[in-house]
Amino acid sequence: MSKSSLKGRRIRLGMVGGGTGAYIGGIHRFAARLDDQFELVAGAFDVDAERGHRFAAQNFIAPERAYDDYTAMIAGEAARDDGIDVVAICTPNFTHYPIARAFLEAGIDVICEKPLTTTLQDAEAMAEMVSQTGRFLGVTYTYSGYPLIMEARSRVQAGLIGKVRTVQVEYPLEWMATGVELKNNQQAAWRVDPKKNGRGGAIGDIGTHAFHLAGFVTGLKVDSVMADLATFVEGRALDDNAHVLIRYEGGARGMLWASQVAIGCSNSLRLRVFGETGSLTWAQEQPNELLYTPLEGYTQIIKRGRDDLDALTQARTRTPPGHPEGYIEAFSNLYNGFAAALRARDANLAPQGIGAVIPQIADGLKGVAFVDAVVDSHEQGAVWIKPKYG
Ligand code: NAI
Repeated sequence: MSKSSLKGRRIRLGMVGGGTGAYIGGIHRFAARLDDQFELVAGAFDVDAERGHRFAAQNFIAPERAYDDYTAMIAGEAARDDGIDVVAICTPNFTHYPIARAFLEAGIDVICEKPLTTTLQDAEAMAEMVSQTGRFLGVTYTYSGYPLIMEARSRVQAGLIGKVRTVQVEYPLEWMATGVELKNNQQAAWRVDPKKNGRGGAIGDIGTHAFHLAGFVTGLKVDSVMADLATFVEGRALDDNAHVLIRYEGGARGMLWASQVAIGCSNSLRLRVFGETGSLTWAQEQPNELLYTPLEGYTQIIKRGRDDLDALTQARTRTPPGHPEGYIEAFSNLYNGFAAALRARDANLAPQGIGAVIPQIADGLKGVAFVDAVVDSHEQGAVWIKPKYG
């Protein structure tokens, strides 16, 4: 496998999953392309090899770099001078660990979808492998890529809302309000299977996003969680609605709601953080505005794109205020951060700026530990449980 320097060239990206009819792989491709840091050159795009080859051809991947499966891809890419530098794993949860392990063992860096794995044991093994191999593993917690999420984080760090008292985070969706898994919905089919999705349903699929976002903005570490999970759609083996109380280290309190059955909510992730001297509110469906309220002051609308915002917020912004940016740009900000981290390592430097604020293996591990603690809490009758990694 090529170890040629990344200097002066794009980073060569491979992809596993993300083929015809898949959801998130396409978003990865948009995001990787947006700022020209990456070029997609190889893939095993589908669990069905033939369909994967057809997809590769439609996406102008050279035929010799479209592979039947990920093991063939590793062998093929390792034999090339211009082999991939990094692989994006865009497959269902239960496949993340074996696929990531194989690429890490072959010396190839990884960008992995969330939740990192279906079991805590696998997440720990993956973390161990990252540490042993010294490879990079980025996790695509999409929503932490938004510029105004960065601004919220910098305002908390600057003390503008004082010591955090409470965190309210909610991630309601409506798309699984009925038994869509029984109607040939590709995305729903594996998400309701504990072996493929993991122990947590809604809490694993979207609760992990909300959990990461709250921690990213506040910097708080979880002490313990207490959970009440519910399954509203008959016949489902996993929760489709989760209410979680969180005690953070240092005394702050949190509430997290994740739901796949909230009719009227398309992708209504919302974060509110209340401190001793102010509060911040951000909603994914209006991502170009952040509300800031100082104690005894008026609520201010902070707009993305202003040049008096934090330097890292500006580094994640492409267009002036009033020209909306959104989901694809946020995802691309993660890719830019991954690129910056990979280029820094290539130059034997510590990552700086956007390369230092990206979700990585430790964040993925914490997400899986959170799901484990939440499900344990629920199963034991809503008792307080300390996640293994807070
Ligand atoms: P999907 O079911 O739409 O697509 C999965 C793709 O993986 C399909 O193309 C399938 O053929 C392929 N695949 C499955 N096993 C494979 C294998 N062994 N080798 C090669 N390809 C294989 O799933 P979706 O919704 O795109 O989710 C994929 C992952 O992305 C999940 O882990 C999910 O949690 C995560 N996700 C993350 C989001 C984010 O915002 N970061 C949003 C949606 C999903």
